[in-house]
Parts: sequence; C-alpha cells; structure tokens
Amino acid sequence: MAERAILTIGDRSYEFPVIEGSEGERAIDITELRARTGLITYDPGFGNTGSCISNITFIDGEKGILRYRGIPIEQFDRPTPNFIEAAWLIIFGRLPTKDDLAGFNVILTENAHLDESMKHNFEGFPVGAPPMAMLSAMINALSCFHPEYLKLSDEDTFEAAAARLFSKIRTIAAYSYRRSKGVPYIFPNPHLRYCANFLHMMFSMPYKDHVIDSDIEDALNLIFILHADHEQNCSAATVRVVGSGQANLFASVAAGVCALWGPRHGGANLAVIRMLEDVHRGNHSPEECIRMAKSQTSDFRLMGFGHRVYKNYDPRARILKAVCDRVLTRHHVNDPLLEIALRLEELALKDEYFVERKLYPNVDFYSGIIMRAIGIPTDMFPVMFAIGRVPGWIAQWREQQGDPQTRIARPRQIYAGPTVTSYIPIERRESAG
Ligand code: ACO
Repeated sequence: MAERAILTIGDRSYEFPVIEGSEGERAIDITELRARTGLITYDPGFGNTGSCISNITFIDGEKGILRYRGIPIEQFDRPTPNFIEAAWLIIFGRLPTKDDLAGFNVILTENAHLDESMKHNFEGFPVGAPPMAMLSAMINALSCFHPEYLKLSDEDTFEAAAARLFSKIRTIAAYSYRRSKGVPYIFPNPHLRYCANFLHMMFSMPYKDHVIDSDIEDALNLIFILHADHEQNCSAATVRVVGSGQANLFASVAAGVCALWGPRHGGANLAVIRMLEDVHRGNHSPEECIRMAKSQTSDFRLMGFGHRVYKNYDPRARILKAVCDRVLTRHHVNDPLLEIALRLEELALKDEYFVERKLYPNVDFYSGIIMRAIGIPTDMFPVMFAIGRVPGWIAQWREQQGDPQTRIARPRQIYAGPTVTSYIPIERRESAG
C-alpha cells in the first residue's frame, strides 16, 4: 500500500499521501492541507518545501552529489569541456546528437549580435554602472526587440527564443563590461566558439584581437558548466515564481539575474575575493576571519562557505579547486589569494563550529581565483555566474510552463500585525515624538 502521512490536530487525524522521486526522495503532499484542516505550513526560506516535481537536476547534499539529467557533474570535466553540449542537455533533456549540436551552434552564431537600437540603450547607463544591473535590464529589454518570442507556443519557437537568449547573454555581458569601462564595443566573431567569442568581446580592442588561450577557454567552459543548473535555488525559484504568472522567458530570466546578484547567492564569488583581498592587505589574519565568522556578535560570514543543500563538500568546489591549481600552474600565476583561501579552508575544516554546522567550501570559494587568473574583472564575477546559469533558468522556466500542476506562485503568511483598528483623521492624531 502507498505510504501515507498522518497529521493529528486536536482530536482529529488527517492522512496525506507521501510521494517519492526517482532517487528515493520523499515528500508529504499537502496540496489539500488548508482545504481540509484550515491550517497552512510555516517554513521561512522554504527549507522544507518542495515547490515542484522536476526532471532536470539531482542533488544529494548529504553525499555531495550533483547530476544534470542523471549525468554526474564530474563527467563534464573531460579533456575538452563543452558548455553548449551541457546547456543543450539541461534545456532539452537529453544529450544532443552531432546534428542537434551543429544546428544549435548555427542559431547561436547567427544571433550573437544585438539589435543596433538595443546597443544604444547601453549609452543610457553611466560609465561605472554595475554590470549586473545592465545585464538584467538588457535581458528584459529583449522582450521589446523580440515580440515574436513573447508567447512560445511550439517547440521550434521555444528553441529559437532559448538559443537567442543563450547566445545574446554573453554579448550583453561583454557590452555591460565595456560600457562600465567606457571602452568601444567589439562585435561577436562568427568564427569563434561560445567561450572564445565571449573572451574576444570582453578583451579585444578595435586595433588588436585578444589572443585566445585554449587552457583558459577550457577553464571558462568548465566554470560555466559547473554553474549551469542547481535545481530550486534562489534565482531558479525566482524565475519559476515570475514565470508562474505567465511572464515571458526574457522577463522571467531578467528577474533571475536580480535574484542572483546578492552576496548570499551569486554575488558570493565577488564577496570571497573581497574577503581574501582584505586578509592580503593585512586587515585581518585568516585566524581572525574564522573567529569573526564564529562570533555571535558579528555579521561576518566566511564567504564561499556553507550551503542550504550541501552538508558535505560541494562537488563543484572540488572540481574548481583542481582547475584553479591547473590554470595557475600552467600560466605561472602566483596568486597570494590562493594561499589565503587554502589556509582558511584548512582552518575551517578542522574547526568545531564549521564541522558541527557542516559548513564546507561552496562553488564560489575557488571560482573567483580562477576568474582573476583569466583576467575577468571582479565586478563581472556575478555576471559570469549568470551566463553559466542561463541554461538552468531556461530549463526551469520551460519545465514549469509545460507542467499541468503549475499554479501561480502565491505563498500565504501568518499575519502578526494589529487587529482591527480605526482610522484617525490627521488633525486628531498626536505627534509621534
Ligand atoms: N560563515 C559563518 N557561519 C555560517 C556560514 C558562513 N559562511 N554559513 C552558515 N553559517 C552558520 C549560521 O550562522 C548558522 O549558525 P547558527 O545555527 O549558530 O545560527 C548556521 O551556520 C546555519 O546557517 P543559515 O544561514 O541558517 O543557513 P542557510 O541554509 O540559510 O544559508 C548560505 C546558506 C546563505 C549559503 C550561508 O551558508 C551563507 O551565508 N554562506 C556565505 C555566503 C555564500 O557563500 N553564498 C553562496 C552560496 S552558493 C550559491 O548560491 C551559489
């Protein structure tokens, strides 16, 4: 017999079905809870709430497992990691054939450019504007330049819209950087692959092409792959919440970029580097960082440590640590921040506070050091995360739109404000002071 959960409230008992995922994860289906009991659940931060049934990404946080469509993340770290292949898998649900990949690459190449008037929009931002703000605004602006993709009624239109977004995000990202520096925009080069083209648009000058290093291109592919999806995190959940109101793909993903921006989520890679720089400048020793992170009276957190789901070493951090070592060694980069990161990790992993709370390095702990070695400016780190995450956002949006169980996302609350009270005309109100 199918398993049931029994909830007793006062002298009444209610049975609810227990559902099980393909990896044995179980959940109590409380869809009818309020209708039957008059009660709701209270779960700030949704740590115990399953908001959907998904086929995209599996995480076992206790064991440190991450799989895209069933494939362990470690298997993408091959001699030549290929972000397009991983993105296609995540979006469309199976590994692409050679023809699928070739066809998708053609659409990506033909749509890497931005509409000329869209390009002018960048001029409206001040030099020095945060690239994440420009990225989100410009992705939303795609809704104005592609009205034909506001409603995606069949597979071909969906693929066309997804490919345009996936291709253009790297152009928008590179232009955001160039606008923030006040340097000329560089057109995409149709002869370059996805990551190489991004590096070209970031670093070439009108008078000199940037020389693409294949190690760096591979490292970038891998960084993007490792960020490509992570099930119902803050930004993916945002994309789904916005999408649940039937907002279009561009608007939903633009909202995802905003959700990613903060230092507790995709902005953590930037915060890690700032923390390591602070130690390097001598403002704190690694030991002091650990002390501050543990202090109940300080807001300081060890950035790049801890995760809502991983209670073990984040498998992405393990791969990135090795890539970091590889890139720095091959390019003879002696970055003192790496030494500091290694020391902080060593101290944290044997400290009772971190051990008890199962706080391990997450994906952001080493990614910033690699990006520094590649020459990516610090304020672009969250943007790099966003480029990597776009396949996941697209896949989550698509899965949700096709799911007959989808309802508009609308949590409830426990109201704790004043009970009914009367309006007082302003002339009869006493001053607050
Ligand atoms: N440094 C010090 N203490 C920490 C840290 C940290 N990095 N992370 C969690 N803790 C402590 C908390 O203070 C809390 O302690 P308490 O039980 O004594 O109150 C306990 O560990 C649990 O922490 P929560 O904040 O409740 O855990 P939550 O799951 O809500 O947060 C988060 C996860 C936001 C990632 C948190 O670990 C954090 O802020 N880490 C630093 C920021 C970071 O690296 N973010 C990137 C995450 S990965 C990603 O988004 C791509």
